[in-house]
Amino acid sequence: MRPLFLIGFMGAGKTTVGRIVADRLGRPFTDLDRWIEESTERSIDELFEQRGEDGFRDIERRALEVSAHLPDAVIACGGGIVTDEDSRRLLEESGDVVYLAVNAEEALARVGGEYTGRPLLSGADPVGAAALLQLRELLYEEAADFTVDTVGHGPQSVADRIVEWVVMEP
Ligand code: S3P
Repeated sequence: MRPLFLIGFMGAGKTTVGRIVADRLGRPFTDLDRWIEESTERSIDELFEQRGEDGFRDIERRALEVSAHLPDAVIACGGGIVTDEDSRRLLEESGDVVYLAVNAEEALARVGGEYTGRPLLSGADPVGAAALLQLRELLYEEAADFTVDTVGHGPQSVADRIVEWVVMEP
């Protein structure tokens, strides 16, 4: 079976929901950021510091290329994966793509006010988060085969919608 990619802004719940979906479908789960950290032996923060955002996107694209060959996998992607054109093409060609939609307010509330190792999201900057989300929203929508609105919905109910879509998908 083709991989199932979860995309969406930071704080959308991709990792939490992805684990539940994988568990329910009996499929393996991979979190692309954690996989990058383990294989490079560096934190996302360190990679941004040492390589800049462009360097991180190159690493992320290579990780996506490898993960695209994992049979059956449910893969939680980093929130910025859609900003890279080649990664967008890979997503489209390699698997089914589910977009977990969230607004900036709820994303920040979920991620919390403290720094959580996401160099592009400071809990103290709602205006910056909203602007970044606005820049990406169309990219998420265009990449998606299926969209779930997560605002006001817990991970279990979001996972229910995704599992239903996977099972019913023609
Ligand atoms: C990023 C999102 C992060 C991580 C990196 C960059 C982004 O992943 O890949 O900090 O550009 O939105 P999560 O969406 O899992 O937090």
